[in-house]
Amino acid sequence: MAPAAATSSPMFAPAASTTTALSLANVLYEKNGAIAYVTVNRPKVLNALNTPTWKDLRTAFEDARDDAAVRGVILTGAGDKAFIAGADISEFEGRTSLTQRDAMKSLRIFDAIEDFPKPVIAMINGFCLGGGLELALACDLRFASDNAKLGQPEINLGIIPGGGGTQRLARLIGEGKSMELILTGDLIEAAQAKELGLVNDVFIPNELRDRVRALAARIAEKSPIALRMAKEAVKTASRTTLREGLSRETDLFCLTFGSEDKEEGVRAFLEKRKPDFKGR
Ligand code: COA
Repeated sequence: MAPAAATSSPMFAPAASTTTALSLANVLYEKNGAIAYVTVNRPKVLNALNTPTWKDLRTAFEDARDDAAVRGVILTGAGDKAFIAGADISEFEGRTSLTQRDAMKSLRIFDAIEDFPKPVIAMINGFCLGGGLELALACDLRFASDNAKLGQPEINLGIIPGGGGTQRLARLIGEGKSMELILTGDLIEAAQAKELGLVNDVFIPNELRDRVRALAARIAEKSPIALRMAKEAVKTASRTTLREGLSRETDLFCLTFGSEDKEEGVRAFLEKRKPDFKGR
């Protein structure tokens, strides 16, 4: 099926030389140089995630994982109103504990993004709620437009966050504020999200895409091996004890010494030139 048309918003006009990598019904999947763009494309329902969209997300991330030319992924939403307004609530009606459990088993996208071997950046261009915030939390970096609103409003539906929200949010911003957001379901503005460390930075809507693209391109020039090791090391911090984390860091640090990229990085420094990392 041909991909649905992207929004005409200037913020999401594709950059020159962006090519559609896969035709998916609910996700625009494009590549530009070393960066893959994964854009949830259901703007009429604020990019709510229904079952086919979860599947398309998985397909896109699998392609980005397996394509050596891709060195980083930007996850965003189509249109200028929402990043992702959560799971598609219309699918919840009539679901039982068991059918919901089955639905979740087949779609382990949150962990796949968290353990993704390349950096993933959430570009939050509007409402970032429920499963949308949980996806953003699984990413490595989060940047928001100044009109974005973020929250875990599941409590208003009589449910709780189920995509890692209670765990990743608390690890990122602490138990007290997470508890407040999850128990009240209140939404916060981008500026407050930045104060809490929930997003790395906030930009005006017209600048968001260029700023995130520039940062992603800068990161994509680093050694893919070192990026992968760095990511795994930092993630270990919230998963284990300090002593085990330090030991894991030592292992990963030493592993980088086995790469050609390390030789190239050191040689380039000594020769006072820019390194050309090949990912080997
Ligand atoms: N699931 C399904 N549909 C959704 C949705 C979701 N999570 N979020 C928004 N939509 C749909 C709305 O039903 C509406 O569809 P319609 O035009 O057919 O009526 C459309 O998207 C636009 O949303 P609307 O509510 O009219 O926009 P708004 O600006 O008044 O409000 C929100 C925006 C985000 C505050 C509101 O849509 C909302 O609360 N959404 C649900 C958020 C949520 O609870 N997410 C967690 C789910 S577990």
